[in-house]
Amino acid sequence: MNYIDDRKKFKLQMEQNSFKLGKSKINLKKSIEILTRFDRNYYSYIWSWLGIPIIQQPSEILVNQEIIFNYKPDVVIETGVARGGSVIFYSSILNLFKKKFKVIGIDIDLRDHNRKAIFNHKMSKNIKIFDGSSIDIKIFKKIKKLCKNKKVIVILDSDHSKKHVLEELNLYSKLVKKNGYIVVADTILGFLNKKQTPKKVSKVLYRGNEPYAALKEFLKNNKNFVIDKKLNGKLLISQNFSGYIKKIK
Ligand SMILES: C[S@@+](CC[C@H](N)C(=O)[O-])C[C@H]1O[C@@H](n2cnc3c(N)ncnc32)[C@H](O)[C@@H]1O
Repeated sequence: MNYIDDRKKFKLQMEQNSFKLGKSKINLKKSIEILTRFDRNYYSYIWSWLGIPIIQQPSEILVNQEIIFNYKPDVVIETGVARGGSVIFYSSILNLFKKKFKVIGIDIDLRDHNRKAIFNHKMSKNIKIFDGSSIDIKIFKKIKKLCKNKKVIVILDSDHSKKHVLEELNLYSKLVKKNGYIVVADTILGFLNKKQTPKKVSKVLYRGNEPYAALKEFLKNNKNFVIDKKLNGKLLISQNFSGYIKKIK
């Protein structure tokens, strides 16, 4: 087998194994058990990227790298910046293979020390932050202008209520072109029972009022987006079950 055929075969095997991992109901059940156990020690809050805390799990960071490298967007938009590790991450990956790009972050409550940490970082040159709500139409219009004729990936990680995520999906999906992605974070909340739902959120966010409920409703009405099962399958130690959707037409 020559080099090219071997690479193709390996890629196919990767996708098939990922798909199969995601098909198993037992895998999902086991993942939820492990994740609810890990969450007691704030498993999503213990990682950093190039020195800045990133509130994502390792598998999500790796898969975000995959979609960014494979799709090569001109713009990555993230709603919900928090401590800034994620915007630094997108910027540092894009910086490896693009001269011109933008990382746009929107946050309603970006703390001063976090802003300083972001903009003092070597990788901040192409980052633009909008202060306010991600569904504020004035902010969205400015972002839309920046995205004209650009390849865009969107990560939704701000207010996790169904209404908010659905509004974000309806707005930001307009910026995504064929083969582009939207990542809906924290869909795991739609898979947990009451006992498994973290106490800090369970009064507000519970099955029916969370990102996965928004995602399902969005997909019902937007057949040009689908859950990428080859990608989501391997995201078993993740908060974003079925959260990676791809625009297919
Ligand atoms: C889970 S954190 C984001 C984590 C970040 N994406 C990362 O990977 O490190 C959620 C952030 O969303 C912000 N947020 C909450 N509601 C928002 C809204 N309506 N619009 C924009 N940002 C919002 C919060 O201030 C908080 O910083």
